[in-house]
Amino acid sequence: MAHPERISLAQHLAAQADLPDGLIRVLESVAEACVDIAALTAQGALAGILGEAGHENVQGEAQKKLDVLANDLMLAAGERSGQLAAMASEELDWPCVPPEAQGDYLLLFDPLDGSSNIDVNVSIGTIFSVLPALRDADWSSNEAAARAFLQAGVRQLAAGYVIYGPATLLTLTTGKGVDVFTLDAEEGVFFRTREAVQIPPETGEFAINMSNQRHWEAPVRHYIDDLLAGKTGIRGKDFNLRWVASMVADVHRILTRGGVFLYPVDARNRDRGGRLRLMYEANPMAWLVEQAGGTASTGRGRLLEVVPETLHQRVPVMLGSRQEVETLVRLHAETV
Ligand code: F6P
Ligand code: MN
Repeated sequence: MAHPERISLAQHLAAQADLPDGLIRVLESVAEACVDIAALTAQGALAGILGEAGHENVQGEAQKKLDVLANDLMLAAGERSGQLAAMASEELDWPCVPPEAQGDYLLLFDPLDGSSNIDVNVSIGTIFSVLPALRDADWSSNEAAARAFLQAGVRQLAAGYVIYGPATLLTLTTGKGVDVFTLDAEEGVFFRTREAVQIPPETGEFAINMSNQRHWEAPVRHYIDDLLAGKTGIRGKDFNLRWVASMVADVHRILTRGGVFLYPVDARNRDRGGRLRLMYEANPMAWLVEQAGGTASTGRGRLLEVVPETLHQRVPVMLGSRQEVETLVRLHAETV
């Protein structure tokens, strides 16, 4: 049976009394870009989007063709919104400051999360975050423009992701809970299909790349050992492991049926501060998780309170069901 209500994203946003028109426009333009990315994703090889683009991004990762196309679509849509002072992307070394742009907002995004899954036809996504553009910001150089973005996640005005899976879904928060919208690909419109999402406080599922086990720090090792011990261990129950290797898909599962997601700092990524990027991967996901009643931590502090020092800064990430993240925080506190 079809979903009974047909509240579009535009209607949903318009119904939120105190959401500024400019911010609504930014979110609608992100959604427009994601409708186009969804169409390309669904076409796959027919659209010639599989494979490598032939260069590396600022993170030193080989770009896929779809990384580049998705980035271009997001930049074009952001500029079209006319509401942005600047944009920052995982795929760009420095912020993009559109000519004449004097908008009130900064848009940050990972245009194509989980790129390693593109060619194997597993769920991928787009992650985005909106911050306020500070009035006195200096856009005259790359370095100055990057500094204008260095705000903690608690300052986000909107955050979300789009997952290109069996269905294309947009999950969004503007600070009043989390709602999920499903794309009607024929109409090119997102319709609300879940409201006030809540993560169950307890869970029996965890997500971590187990192949990194030997590189982890003691608290994470300890925590995972206890989960793996199952019924006969200290936790007294069996846990199930799920790892999609697309953060959007792992977080979406947690927002649907609970769980905990970890990408900890380890011996290989310690110099860089972790694996995932703070400003356009960890922060938007952390805010969604908190807004859905979960917890997001670095293991040693609230993720949303980390004050970034650089635009592409990385961070340890532990998020999801409250009780699990609290256990992790306690284990970190016990290991000084
Ligand atoms: O963007 C980074 C990312 O692709 C995430 O989406 C995902 O959670 C993680 O990296 C996968 O890491 P690994 O390659 O260690 O499985
Ligand atoms: Mn990513």
